[in-house]
Amino acid sequence: MKEKNSFSGSIGFVLAAAGSAVGVGNIWRFPYLCAKDGGGLFLLVYLVLVLTFGFVLLTTDVAIGRKTKKNALKAFGALKKRWGFLGYLTFLVPILIMTYYSVIGGWITKYFVSYVVSDGSALAEDGYFTSFITSKVAPIVFMLIFLALTAWIVYRGVEKGIEKFSSFIMPGLIVLIVVIAVFSLTLSHTDADGTVRTGMQGLMVYLKPDFTGLTVKRFLEILLDAMSQLFFSLSVSMGIMVTYGSYVKDDVNLSKAMNQIELFDTGVAVLAGMMIIPAVFVFLGTDGMASGPSLIFISLPKVFQAMGGAGRIVAAAFFLMLGFAALTSCVSVMETLVANCMELFHQPRKKMCGLIGLYSLVTAVVICLGYNVFYFELKLPNGSAAQLLDLMDYISNSFLMPFISLLTSILIGWVVKPHWIISEVEKNGEHFRRARLYYIMIRYIVPPVMLILFLVSTGFVNWLF
Ligand code: PHE
Repeated sequence: MKEKNSFSGSIGFVLAAAGSAVGVGNIWRFPYLCAKDGGGLFLLVYLVLVLTFGFVLLTTDVAIGRKTKKNALKAFGALKKRWGFLGYLTFLVPILIMTYYSVIGGWITKYFVSYVVSDGSALAEDGYFTSFITSKVAPIVFMLIFLALTAWIVYRGVEKGIEKFSSFIMPGLIVLIVVIAVFSLTLSHTDADGTVRTGMQGLMVYLKPDFTGLTVKRFLEILLDAMSQLFFSLSVSMGIMVTYGSYVKDDVNLSKAMNQIELFDTGVAVLAGMMIIPAVFVFLGTDGMASGPSLIFISLPKVFQAMGGAGRIVAAAFFLMLGFAALTSCVSVMETLVANCMELFHQPRKKMCGLIGLYSLVTAVVICLGYNVFYFELKLPNGSAAQLLDLMDYISNSFLMPFISLLTSILIGWVVKPHWIISEVEKNGEHFRRARLYYIMIRYIVPPVMLILFLVSTGFVNWLF
């Protein structure tokens, strides 16, 4: 007998989908990209992309799921038999992401616990983060805690697990993030040489578009960063939103739900920037902001340290919130794997949870060991040096996702035609306001842009840059 899987209603779906979308990407990746790419300029480019590409890709995924009532693995085949391979390709993405997302979740858990049990001064020391992730036991232990929590929520099922947890975690996250952002704006610090920097100045750095030295090449770089951030942040083109879409009841207004998810995801990213960038600017100056991926685990502990007494409380709240955001995202990855396997092997949820749990456990241990036992440095086509974790991230985000979007947009735009999606959105007589935009984007804009993105990020067109 088929178990019934669905969200109780629109709000449940929106919160669960937002739970998937809002994750490490919003709170860690967005602010550092923003700092690197000229503050307000990046923000502007990103907002335009959300309203065009983000909206099109998200609508496509969710509508495919709801219309076919199938998981990604089978949905594409149900759409057009010869395109069934796309489902399998899509399924690869959560398979890869699952290997490392819980490892990052473990790092966050470790930092949270450290701030609860100690004053965190050790975390602010140079070399702390590296020595932690290269150690053999601790990263595995914290990853296990995080993974166990994830598996437990997925085990409880769609409505009692995912929906229930998202509906208290997500609002809580918003409250925490607003409180810390406001606190960030009130900060001020005087350097040894007497320079005073305030949170409000930091806010200006964040919001004011910086056009100095802007060339076409630089603009393309910013565009590329913003585009890849968009995929990752909205959890699109990886089968996750197709799966969640298949749990949405037929009477839900998709257009409205889509707007809410976009607003939620972008709102949290913008607020995260407001919370992190001014604080880093105040204590570490503009140099500190250029620190890139290490921002959260290396720069922020220094900021918390500089805040004095309040620093520890803010730090614990921050990592708690980040942990929650990562948890609901990790749940969506595992749920997608479990749901697809349930369909594939005709086995109950509990059994598949065990199997996928085991897969996640083994692969995550291997990823943890990628920093010591299996250490290597691989030069990626885009020029950066990668360890195991970065390699997985690169294959899924830079290689597979643009490729999947390219194929999906050809399938929807030219093979089954956009009306297939538009009619699903308008199913209950709702008005799909951006239907025309959708039509033009999915046929003429998304395919060439995805092709370029794919070629550029895989290094085939290095000469362009
Ligand atoms: N969207 C999540 C974020 O912004 C990341 C994520 C990626 C979640 C892939 C699920 C799957 O962090």
